[in-house]
Amino acid sequence: MGAKVYEAINDQVNNELSASHSYLAMSGVCEDLNFPGAAHWFRVQSDEEREHALRLFDFIHDRNHSVSLRRIQVETTHATTLIEVFRAALAQEEQVSKQIDALYEQAMGEKDFAAVVQLQWFVTEQVEEEKSARDIIARLEMAGNDARAMLEIDRDLAARAAGQSEGGGGGGHTH
Ligand code: FEO
Repeated sequence: MGAKVYEAINDQVNNELSASHSYLAMSGVCEDLNFPGAAHWFRVQSDEEREHALRLFDFIHDRNHSVSLRRIQVETTHATTLIEVFRAALAQEEQVSKQIDALYEQAMGEKDFAAVVQLQWFVTEQVEEEKSARDIIARLEMAGNDARAMLEIDRDLAARAAGQSEGGGGGGHTH
């Protein structure tokens, strides 16, 4: 069993925890901007990223390797509007997708099929996560400066339950 891919998966545990922290920071920005629904959405998203980290954390131990946690890097967002916060979220997800693709390629290269199967879930999840962020950005673009439309979006984002990638009425699907 190649240890290199496990070092890379360990990096990803740390990356997912960083993503969790960044989303919590974004939740705080939404609170500051008076969008409690979006703040809730990002808090759920933060929890989801921690779940992603734990999924890989468990996998590494199941494969008889060890995890080493590092200092968490937080991308602080300087967004001053809701759409900017979601654009920062999308950029973060696109970054994570690249990380997952590189990991998948490495696992394939090392013929570690257990890791390939584990990472398959993440490849699929990234498609969903990017789509959710893009859908919300599209709605916010349509809303423009219309306060009523913005509040409606915020209400939909408030409806996001744990394990759901979008709030109700946002056109996304649950799984
Ligand atoms: Fe765990 Fe949003 O990537």
